[in-house]
This record gives sequence, C-alpha cells and structure tokens, in this order.
Amino acid sequence: MIGALRSTAGIVSIGKAVPERIVTNEEIASRIDTSDAWIRERTGIHERRISGDLEFASDLGIAAAQQAIDRAGIAPAEIDFVVCATCSPDSYFPSVAATIADRVGAHGAAAVDVSAACTGWVYAMMHAVTQIQSGLAEHVLVVGAETLSKVLDWNDRSTCILFGDGAGACVLSAGAVPETVFGLELGADGAHGNDLIVGALRGTKVIEMDGPAVFRFATSVMVESTRRILDACGMAIDDVDWIVPHQANIRIIDNAAKRLGADPERVLVNLERYGNTSAASIPLCLEEAWSDGRLKKGDRVLMIGFGGGLTWGSCLTEWAAEGPAGAAG
Ligand code: ACO
Repeated sequence: MIGALRSTAGIVSIGKAVPERIVTNEEIASRIDTSDAWIRERTGIHERRISGDLEFASDLGIAAAQQAIDRAGIAPAEIDFVVCATCSPDSYFPSVAATIADRVGAHGAAAVDVSAACTGWVYAMMHAVTQIQSGLAEHVLVVGAETLSKVLDWNDRSTCILFGDGAGACVLSAGAVPETVFGLELGADGAHGNDLIVGALRGTKVIEMDGPAVFRFATSVMVESTRRILDACGMAIDDVDWIVPHQANIRIIDNAAKRLGADPERVLVNLERYGNTSAASIPLCLEEAWSDGRLKKGDRVLMIGFGGGLTWGSCLTEWAAEGPAGAAG
C-alpha cells in the first residue's frame, strides 16, 4: 500500500511514559551467559526499562496519552478515535485502546488496537490519518504501548537482551498544517511470519526469533520502503529533516542510513537507553527530540518501522507541534 496524500493533518503533541526500573546489561549478564560488551557491540543497547509485575501496556499507554492530550491543549472529549499499536496487550479484550480512552476521558470515541508488532506505530498512523482524511475524525489519539518483557524467555540470551517496555502517544489533528504531503508506504509478508513469533494459543507464549533472518529483512526493507515513499512523495533523502527508524539494533540503523546516504546527525536514536520497545520506539524517539528542542514545528519527519508479521511501514509528515515552551501542558 502506498500513497502521497494531500492533507492538513499533523502531529500537534507528543507524550511518553516508561517504567521506573532500569535493567542494565550487567544485570542480565549476572544471570545468564552474556556480557555487557557483547550486547553493546552487537546491538548498541546499554540498558532498558522493565515494567513491574502489575504494570501493563495500558498503564504506560494511559500515562503517555494523558501527557499528549495535555500538551495538545484539547479536551479529551474532542478526541474522535483512539488507536493503540501494541503486540503485548494486557488482554485480548477489552482492547488497550478502549481502556486508554476511558481512563483519559475520551468517552464515546471509537477505540481499537492495531497488531503489527514493531511496525504497529506506522500502521496506527495510517489508520489515524485516513480517518481524518475521510472526515470521520478531527482529532485522533495515537498510542504505541508495550510490555514485551512479559513475553520474553529471560533464559534465552538471543532475545531477552533486545527488548524493553514503554509507551508513546501523539494527537494527530486536522488543520494542523497547511495542506502538504503525508506519505504512507506499508506492507506485510506472512510467508516469513515464523521468523519472529509469539505463538500464544498456537504454541509458545514467549518471543521466538531467527535473529539473523530478521536482521537481513530489516536492513533491506528499511532501505526499500524509504526509497519507495520518497519516490511517491517526489522527495530526496535530503528533503527530510529527521529520520526516525524503529529502534531494534544500531547496526540495522547504521547500515540502512549509510545505504540511503542519510546524514547520521539527522537519524534519531535512543535505543541505548530503552532497547527495542516495539510499537513504542518511534514515539519515544520523537518525544525526546521534541523535548530537547531538536525537532521543531515545520520539520519534515520520516518514520520507518519493521517487525513481526513480517511487516514494514514508512510514514512521512510535517511536524506540527509547537516547541516545549509553547506547548499547552
Ligand atoms: N551474548 C553472547 N553471545 C550471544 C548472544 C548474547 N546475548 N546472543 C547470541 N550469541 C551468540 C550466538 O550463540 C552465536 O554463537 P555461535 O557463533 O557460537 O553459534 C553468536 O553469538 C552469533 O549469533 P548471531 O545470532 O549470528 O548474532 P548476530 O550478530 O546476528 O546478533 C542479534 C544477534 C542481535 C539478535 C541480531 O541478529 C539482530 O539484532 N537481529 C534482528 C532482531 C530484531 O531486530 N528483532 C526485532 C524485530 S522487531 C519486532 O517486531 C518484535
């Protein structure tokens, strides 16, 4: 699926929430056969946040969503649609989105979860912008919330070192920017679904992954998806101010950025502190770049996701949020 919409929709605010508990590489290495040096060198990750036993995706999602709504300066009742990307929901139903909508006061809003693993954030953006384009929604709350630590085998050194918990959220509103290009490119390849799987009803309840296969898929699809979306939008990589890749592995990001000829200074990375937070990783990066003043209103942002499914997706938009000083909350 690919398109370059003409749209006035834009991200008017961003929020984030992460668990308090920090788990360092050293702590993991004290329990299983791995080392801080191996994890840093092969992934770029130094530490991650891990949720408490009774802390779930909805708890993190509610906190991130509340912050995004406060910063947007809108009343929760103005939200028409809540879409939550998660592959580690508290329950099959109710959806995490419905729980978040209730707890933030978006009563009566439509609410649904999107399951596209680490590409979930980009898929959720697609649902949000197309509802705005159709006229069904004016304000959409988009959330990425994950507690993948709860579906990890903490004795499997090839997976447990990679993931962390967290949530990010934004408000996407109609009329936020002058009509401009909003690019989307998404796809899926179910034939290779078993390369990255949590079987649930059909098998094991923890993440099983063919790491090298996912690595090869990720490096090539990031480059291909970026080329396709830039082509559809009639842009070159230098027309983009910020590239925000899914935060899985620094080697995947560096490899793709190099092949795309992207300025490394323009690639947002924070995986050293959070690991792979799946659908939350892109908004966590966006929130931090906005908070520290790098990401400014009018900047062109390219988000690129990949993950279980296998799935991939890119989204190109103009950043519409005022800087932290000008934000309502
Ligand atoms: N510590 C020490 N050694 C390790 C560890 C570890 N934590 N993990 C694996 N090894 C060993 C392996 O056993 C192997 O040893 P051997 O050569 O004696 O057999 C050696 O290191 C190399 O193993 P590889 O799997 O080839 O290592 P690689 O360099 O590929 O790195 C990694 C593994 C980090 C998992 C990498 O393949 C990767 O990042 N893949 C992509 C994963 C990913 O992004 N997944 C998330 C997708 S998003 C989503 O939707 C959830």
